[in-house]
Amino acid sequence: MKFFIDTANLSQIKEAYELGILDGVTTNPSLMAKEGIKSEEGVLKHYETICEIVDGDVSAEVISTDFAGMVEEGKKLAAIHPNIVVKVPMIKDGVKALKWFTDNGIKTNCTLVFSAGQAILAAKAGATYVSPFIGRIDDSSWDGVELIGQIAQIYTLQGFNTQILAASIRNALHIVRCAEAGADVCTCPLDSILGLLKHPLTDLGLAKFLEDANKMKAQMTVA
Ligand code: E4P
Repeated sequence: MKFFIDTANLSQIKEAYELGILDGVTTNPSLMAKEGIKSEEGVLKHYETICEIVDGDVSAEVISTDFAGMVEEGKKLAAIHPNIVVKVPMIKDGVKALKWFTDNGIKTNCTLVFSAGQAILAAKAGATYVSPFIGRIDDSSWDGVELIGQIAQIYTLQGFNTQILAASIRNALHIVRCAEAGADVCTCPLDSILGLLKHPLTDLGLAKFLEDANKMKAQMTVA
C-alpha cells in the first residue's frame, strides 16, 4: 500500500518525505485555503513547490463544476509537472471530464466518493485513483472501511485498474484497517502516519535497553 500525505502544508510534507515512506500528496481546496494562498498564480506555484519536494503523484483539485471548466482547469494543472494528478468531483460532468482526461493521457483522482456505485462509475471513466472518504462516512454512523473492502472486491472481480485511494483518514487504526481491506493507497494527515509509530511497550523496551547499555558502559569505564 502506498502512503500519501493529505495536506498542502509544506513543512508537514517535508517532514513526512524525510521519513522515507512517502509516495505522494493529496490536497483539496479547503487544505489549500488553510495555507493562506490568495491568487490563482499562488495556487499553481504552491503545487509546483510540492512537486519539487516529493517524488510522487500530487493531486490538485479543480474547482469548476462544468465539463468545459474542469477540462480547462485540469489542463493548466497537468501542465505544472508530470506528477500532477487532476482531482475531479464525482458529479455528472466530473465523470465526463474523467473520461476526457483518461483519453488525453492525464492522470485523475475521482474525489468525494461515498458509495460502490460511484466507484464503479469512476473506474468505467478510467480514473487513475478513486477516493472514498472513510472518516466522513464514519461521521454519519456507517463504517467507511467496509466501503473500501466492497470496492476492492468489485474492482478485483471486474478487472478494473483504478487504484483505491482511502481518503478522509482520521487515525492510525483507519490506516491499518484500510490496508487490511485492500486499499492501494492511504492518504493521511501527518498525525495519523506518526500514530502508527506509537506503542508503550516500544518506549518501555527502549528505556530498559538504554538503561542496561549505560550500566554496561559504566562498568567498561571502571575496568
Ligand atoms: C483527500 O483527498 C480528501 O480531500 C481528504 O482526505 C478529505 O478529508 P476530510 O474528510 O478530513 O476533510
